[in-house]
Amino acid sequence: MADHRWMIYGAYGYTGRLVALEAVRRGQRPLLAGRSAEKLAPLAERLGLDWIAVDLADQAALQKAIGRVELVYHAAGPFVRTSAPMIDACLATGAHYLDLTGEIPVFQATFARDEAARRAGVALISGVGFDVVPSDCLAVYVAAQVPGALQLDIAMTYLTRPSAGTARSMLELLPQGGWVRRAGRLLPWPLGAGATRVHFPIGDRTVLPVPLADLETAYRSTGIPNITTYLALSSLARPLASLVAPLAGRLLSIGALRNGTGWLIDRTMRGPDVGMRARERTYVWARARHPQGASAECWLITPEPYQFTALVALNCVERVLNDRPSGALTPAQAFGADFVLGVPGVLRGADDHRTR
Ligand SMILES: NC(=O)c1ccc[n+]([C@@H]2O[C@H](COP(=O)([O-])OP(=O)(O)OC[C@H]3O[C@@H](n4cnc5c(N)ncnc54)[C@H](OP(=O)(O)O)[C@@H]3O)[C@@H](O)[C@H]2O)c1
Repeated sequence: MADHRWMIYGAYGYTGRLVALEAVRRGQRPLLAGRSAEKLAPLAERLGLDWIAVDLADQAALQKAIGRVELVYHAAGPFVRTSAPMIDACLATGAHYLDLTGEIPVFQATFARDEAARRAGVALISGVGFDVVPSDCLAVYVAAQVPGALQLDIAMTYLTRPSAGTARSMLELLPQGGWVRRAGRLLPWPLGAGATRVHFPIGDRTVLPVPLADLETAYRSTGIPNITTYLALSSLARPLASLVAPLAGRLLSIGALRNGTGWLIDRTMRGPDVGMRARERTYVWARARHPQGASAECWLITPEPYQFTALVALNCVERVLNDRPSGALTPAQAFGADFVLGVPGVLRGADDHRTR
């Protein structure tokens, strides 16, 4: 089998497959990996790539497989269940680790391995997808314009259809409810409370605090101690969410119901089709504020979240193989605030960008 510079683990999942296709389009030949030989073989044959089946529970086999590459792009989630064994194997073999998580506990666990990553001379970078590259880059961009900022607000609006993996990852975290960051600490926040209006390039939208991964990553990237992250909701969805979310949180902690919901998700959540991926755009907004009144805000327009994820994945892989950073880093720490502008279709709002 040929030498490969990098591996996609979870290559036959919805998002792993998009990344594999984009890699081939760019003339790259990653090693495809996952736990199922039956699912890997047809994809690898179609793309003309090599593959290897290995279970995350078999650490010896995992290290043997990873020993053949310089970098692992981990696309198999929920990452609360899959990240730790892969990071262990990467640290043991000296391979860089990138993953696609948007899960706060996974970012916390990745950052906790910073010293081990520096000793091993490898990069551990979680969140190299729509979560969290655009918002992380934008947070650093606005924070740099307001020295000493104490408040950071991040909001997004987009239209997509979640894949089964995304829905399952959200299901894992939903029972934990809402969070905001205050004075450097994560504090519970009642789901459904705190709606506000944000000016996006497509107009004003009502947004609601939801615990996005930026509560962890933007804190690490900017050091700003008070952070609230928001998602836009339609006027119908907002009251519905405030009614249903606390109830859902309680119900979803019942194991049997979660299993049943997982079964339903697998059969109904297919992710966006090719037309939706090509058509839709996302709008990300961030504002940094100083207590004395100085403030800077800015927005980004990006391709649809899964489309963006496939494109940015390859940019991240190429940068890490080229620059060889080390330590547990956020995307903006690893690549800088302007990195997101290198993704085709991304625009940063200059005309609407206000500094006071
Ligand atoms: N950061 C972002 O912007 C972003 C974007 C897209 C997706 N994601 C995240 O990426 C993950 C995958 O999403 P997806 O759209 O590809 O979902 P998907 O189509 O459901 O694929 C999930 C993949 O994970 C694998 N997997 C799950 N548990 C595993 C385990 N214990 N061991 C080995 N493989 C395991 C599955 O393999 P089997 O079929 O063998 O179970 C499958 O290949 C989700 O956590 C999602 O939230 C993040």
